[in-house]
Amino acid sequence: MTDTDIKKGLAGVVADTTAISKVNPETNSLLYRGYPVQELASTQSFEAVAYLLWNGDLPDETQLAQLRATERAYRHLPAEVRAAIDLVPLDAHPMDEVRTALSLIGAKDLAGTGSVLDVSGSTEENLARSVRLFAVLPAIVAYGQRRRRGQQPVEPRDDLDYAANFLWMTFGEESDAVVVDAFNRSMILYAEHSFNASTFTARVIASTLSDLYSAVVGAVGALKGPLHGGANEAVLHIFDEIGSAENVGPWLDEALAQKRKIMGFGHRVYKRGDSRVPTMKAALDTLVEHYDRPDVAALYDTLESEFVGRKGIYPNLDYPSGPAYNLIGFDTLTFTPLFVAARVTGWTAHIMEQLGSNALIRPLSAYNGPDERHIDGYVPDAAALEAAERAEEPVA
Ligand code: CMC
Repeated sequence: MTDTDIKKGLAGVVADTTAISKVNPETNSLLYRGYPVQELASTQSFEAVAYLLWNGDLPDETQLAQLRATERAYRHLPAEVRAAIDLVPLDAHPMDEVRTALSLIGAKDLAGTGSVLDVSGSTEENLARSVRLFAVLPAIVAYGQRRRRGQQPVEPRDDLDYAANFLWMTFGEESDAVVVDAFNRSMILYAEHSFNASTFTARVIASTLSDLYSAVVGAVGALKGPLHGGANEAVLHIFDEIGSAENVGPWLDEALAQKRKIMGFGHRVYKRGDSRVPTMKAALDTLVEHYDRPDVAALYDTLESEFVGRKGIYPNLDYPSGPAYNLIGFDTLTFTPLFVAARVTGWTAHIMEQLGSNALIRPLSAYNGPDERHIDGYVPDAAALEAAERAEEPVA
C-alpha cells in the first residue's frame, strides 16, 4: 500500500449505497428519498419528513395521524431519565446530558434482552425505537436548557404538533406561527445528510450488530465536535466576538492572520455552497423581521460577503441556523442538542438500512510505526514458534 492509496478522512471514498438521501454537489442539491429538501421544508411538517426518511414515502393522512399519535404518547420525560440528567454537572456540555439520557433510555429498553446476540433488533422493533427517541428528544433538550436557567420543566401539550410543542416545552409559552414555521424548517434541513461523520459512526456501530441505542449514542458523540454539529454553536460565539457589522473587516483580518477556521463556512462535499443554506437563510430573514433585528442580518451579510470574497469558501447550514436559534431564544449551548433532535431521524433510518444489508465496516490501515523489534531475553515458546511457521505457509 502506498501513501496515495490512503484516503485521509475517507475523503472521496464511496463506502456503501444508500436510498435515504442524495447529496449532489455538482447541482447543489440534496434529495431525501428523491424529494428536494427545499420542497420538503416549504410544504411538510417535520413529522412527515421523519416518516419519509424511515419508510421511503411521504405518509398519507392516516399514516401521519398514527405517527403523530405515537409521538404524542412518548413526549414525556420519564422520571428516571430526568434524574439521570440531573446527575450531569450543570456546567457540563448539554451534549453530555443528551448522550447520558439516550444511553439510559436504551439500557432500560433493552434490559432483560439476555444476550448481546439478539440486540440489533428487527426492523419493526427498530422503527418503534426510532419513533420513541424522536418523540422524547424534545423533552430532553428542553429540560436541559430550562435546568441550566434554573427553571422547572414544562409538560408537553397534546394539542400542539411536534415543532410547536418543542418550543412550548422549552419556553413555557406558545410561539408565534412564523417562529414555529422557521423552527420546523430547520428541523427538516438538519434531518439527514448521507454519510456525514455522525451518521457514518452510527452505521459503523450498527454494522457490528450492536443495538440502535448504542449507535445513536455514538453518533451523538461524533456530532458534538465543532467540525461537525458543534459548528452552529461556534457561529454564535463568533457573532458575539465580532459584535456588529462594522467590526467584521478588522476581526476577519486578525482571524485569518491567526489561521483560524471560521465556523459555519466550508463543507467536505459542497465546495460551491451548501444546498440547505438559501432555505434556512429565508427562515432567518423571517425571524429577523419578526423580532425586528436588522443588526443580526447586517452582521450575517457582512461576514458572509467578506469571507466569501476573501477565501471563496461558502456558508454551510450552521451559519444561518445559529443566529436563527439565537433569535428564537435558544441558549447557544442548546444548538447542537437541537441538531440531535433533528438528525436522530436520519441516523435511525441509516441504522435500519445498514442492518437491512449488513457488512461489518472494518477498513484497513497502513502501518507507519517502528519496524518489528523484540524484548531482550524473550524466548518464544512452542506455540508461538508454531504460529510463526503457520504464518509463513501459503494460504490455501
Ligand atoms: N475557515 C477558514 N478556512 C477554511 C474553512 C473555514 N471555515 N474551511 C476550510 N478552510 C480552508 C482550510 O484551512 C484549508 O486551507 P489550506 O488548504 O490552506 O490548509 C482548505 O480550506 C481546505 O479545508 P479542509 O478543512 O481541509 O477541508 P475539508 O473538506 O476537510 O473541511 C470542514 C470541511 C467542514 C471540516 C471545514 O470547512 C471546516 O472546518 N469548517 C468549519 C467548521 C464547520 O462549519 N463545520 C460544519 C460543517 S457542515 C455541517 C455538518 O455537516 O456537520
